[in-house]
Amino acid sequence: MDRLTIRRPDDWHLHLRDGAVLAAVLPESSRDFARAIVMPNLAPPVLTAADARAYRGRVMAALPEGSEFEPLMTLYLTEGTDPDDVAAGHAEGLVTAVKLYPAGATTNSASGVRDMDKALPALERMAEIGLPLCVHGEVTAPEVDIFDREAVFLETVLDPLRRRVPGLRVVLEHVTTAEGVSYVRSNDGVGATITAHHLVLNRNHILAGGIRPHYYCLPVAKREKHRRALVEAATSGDGDFFLGTDSAPHVDAAKETSCGCAGCFTAPVAMPLLAHVFEEAGALDRLEAFASSNGAAYYGLPRNDGALTLEKSPLDAPPKIVTGDGPVTVFDPGFTIAWRVAP
Ligand code: NCD
Ligand code: ZN
Repeated sequence: MDRLTIRRPDDWHLHLRDGAVLAAVLPESSRDFARAIVMPNLAPPVLTAADARAYRGRVMAALPEGSEFEPLMTLYLTEGTDPDDVAAGHAEGLVTAVKLYPAGATTNSASGVRDMDKALPALERMAEIGLPLCVHGEVTAPEVDIFDREAVFLETVLDPLRRRVPGLRVVLEHVTTAEGVSYVRSNDGVGATITAHHLVLNRNHILAGGIRPHYYCLPVAKREKHRRALVEAATSGDGDFFLGTDSAPHVDAAKETSCGCAGCFTAPVAMPLLAHVFEEAGALDRLEAFASSNGAAYYGLPRNDGALTLEKSPLDAPPKIVTGDGPVTVFDPGFTIAWRVAP
């Protein structure tokens, strides 16, 4: 097969940032994707429906002329999140999900949750109204090894939380482990996003033969057996797994330094890279389910009408994009991506 037309895909986990970076990165997502769940970890974070409304306005204003891209907004859960504000934001169609960042887990997560009890009123309301909780599934305790943080989170945070708030719908964001995959498979109401980069990276790619800051993201890529479990889940057709690129731009100056930021900027190459991975797995016929159907079904949203055509032709992606704050390196998997989006 050298041409594949699928229903227009959605990105169920995306960082668009703000200001000059937003303006530069947004067209890279709006070109291929119809909708995206927009993460709220700005500095300061998107805490209230009013914040989300204002941020949505800035995203809409930054869209290329004529684009029909739809940003789906999220709120950043804190210990002070007001259940009424969340419910009102959801009722008006503004808020599609709420995001849990354990405090200190990742970029701009300092205002995240330390004591889950304090977030219970908001979580209970979300369960009542069917509003999904997107979780950054890592514990932050310094004694927990960074490669174990996801597996420990499932056992010590997510499972107890789901028992305390029955009916809460949860998306385990950017799942990176075989344990995460099997947790999703064995628990109803739990879905997971999978990134494109976690389908091609294991921890050797980051660390062996030199340190590669542009492969560093959180949760950090794990052993090869975990990467394989992710490929198996993504290409299985199982409706609980869907695309969330977690495209997370940082300017090069913030990545290529003694203490670099976490995040891979994959938006410009995400769909071609997925086609490459799905073809290698003999599962091109399941790419549409993963990128265009499963997520919409999980969120109870209609599927997109439009289409996206991919063609087998080596991708010639730009190494960097220019932003008003400096260059941002585009994710390069280290091999030639065999597919591109048809012009
Ligand atoms: C994200 C970012 O930079 O905002 N970074 C990342 O490594 N994925 C935050 C996140 O999703 O963890
Ligand atoms: Zn993210």
